[in-house]
Amino acid sequence: MHDETIAIHAGYQADGTRAVAVPIYMTVANDFIDAEHANLIMDLAIPGFHYNRMNNPTNDVLEKRIAALEDGTAALVVASGMAAVSYAILTVATAGSNFVVAPQLYGATYTYFAHVLSTLGIEARFAADDQAESIGRLIDDRTCCVFVESIGNPAGNIVDLEAVADVAHRAGVPLIVDNTVATPLLLKPLHHGADIVVHSLTKFIGGHGTTLGGAIVDGGSFPWTEHAERFPTFNQPEIAFHDVVFARDFPERPFIVRARSIQLRNTGATLSPFNAFQLLQGLETLALRLERHEANARAIADYLAHDPRVEWVNFAGFPDNPYHHLVQKYLNGRVPSIITFGVLGGYEAGLAFFDSVQLFKRVLNLGDAKSLVIHPASTTHRQLSEAELIAVGIRPETIRLSIGLEHVDDLIEDIDQALASAVG
Ligand SMILES: Cc1ncc(COP(=O)(O)O)c(C=O)c1O
Repeated sequence: MHDETIAIHAGYQADGTRAVAVPIYMTVANDFIDAEHANLIMDLAIPGFHYNRMNNPTNDVLEKRIAALEDGTAALVVASGMAAVSYAILTVATAGSNFVVAPQLYGATYTYFAHVLSTLGIEARFAADDQAESIGRLIDDRTCCVFVESIGNPAGNIVDLEAVADVAHRAGVPLIVDNTVATPLLLKPLHHGADIVVHSLTKFIGGHGTTLGGAIVDGGSFPWTEHAERFPTFNQPEIAFHDVVFARDFPERPFIVRARSIQLRNTGATLSPFNAFQLLQGLETLALRLERHEANARAIADYLAHDPRVEWVNFAGFPDNPYHHLVQKYLNGRVPSIITFGVLGGYEAGLAFFDSVQLFKRVLNLGDAKSLVIHPASTTHRQLSEAELIAVGIRPETIRLSIGLEHVDDLIEDIDQALASAVG
C-alpha cells in the first residue's frame, strides 16, 4: 500500500489487511466482560484495553499507522518526542550501561543524554562525529545501543545509516534512529539497518504546531536472544511484569511490549487520546504538506543564495551540499524544509533580521504549517560563547528557517523586507 494511503486509513495493520473506524475514546478505563477476560487482557494473552495509561483505542489507531508507515512490527505512542527518546533508551539500558551517540542532536536530547541519564548511572558516549568508524570505536561490552538522528536538528547532517547499523550489529547492539526531521515519507530507517525508530510527532507529522506527541517503532528484527548476556532484561523473567521474558514471549515486538509494560505503565507519559486524534488528522495530510514544504523551501533557498545581503546558505537540496550523495541515497533526492543561512553583518544583523520578520513566526518549533524563524545565537544557544557556538555549528549570524505552507511570494516578500531592515 502507498504511504499516502496508510497515512489516511484508520486501523490498517502493518500487513494492510484490516480497517477499523477511528474512535475518540472518552473514559480512562475499559469494561471487562468477566474475571477471565480481565486476566487474559492484563496478561497480554489477548489484545484489548484495560486502562488508558497503557493504551486506548484512539492511540492504538495512531500506533498502527505509524508502525505501518515505518514498516515496523508495532509502535508505542507517548506524550512527547522527549518521552519517546527517554523510553527508548530506558527500555534497553540499565545502571552501568553505556550507549554511543552521534553528537549532532536536538538540544533537549543532548542535555538528557549528557546530564540526566548520567545521574542514573547510564553513560552517553558522544562520538567525535557522525561517522561509523568514530561511533564503532566507542562501543564495548557494556554498550546497550547506538543512537543517531537520521537528519540532525539543528545541524542538518545526514547520517549514513547503513554504515552505522553495520558497525552496531557487528558489535551485537541495536541501532536506534530519531527520524523526526525526515519523517517516514522521506526515509524509513528500518529499511537501512535500524532496529528501533523514534519520532517527535509534534513536528511534520502533526504538522500544525498544536499538539505534542512522540512514538517508538519496533523493527522486530534485532536478535535479542543471540545476545542474552548483554540484554538480560529481554532474556530473563521480568519481575516487574509477572515474569514475562520479552524476547521469548513477544518475538515480533519485544521492544514495544517492554517499553509499554515497563516504562509507560510505571511512569505514565501517556499521550492523551484527544492529542492522538489531532495527530491522526495531521498525518492524513502529511504527504501533501511535504510536497508544498519542499517546493517552498527550494524556492526560498534559491532566493537567499542569490541575494548579496546573505553571506551563506545551508540547504540539503543544493547539489554542492556536503550531504548531497546521502540525500540521493536515503531521501530519494527529497529534502525537509529546513534552511539555515547567514545574514551579512554578523550577530547584530542576524538579530535585526529575526526582530524584523512580519509573516514568519519567531518560534522554536519546526515542521509547522506556518513558517518559523529562530536566531539561535540570541535565543536557544544564547549562553554559549562565540567559540562554543562555532563548535556546535552555529555562527553568530545564523538564522534557521522552517518553511511552511504559505504562498511562497508572501514568504519571499517578508524575507526581503527583513533583510532590508537588517542589512539595508
Ligand atoms: C529531532 C528531535 N527529536 C526529539 C524532539 C523532542 O520532541 P518534543 O518536542 O515532541 O518532545 C525534537 C524537538 O524539537 C526534535 O527536533
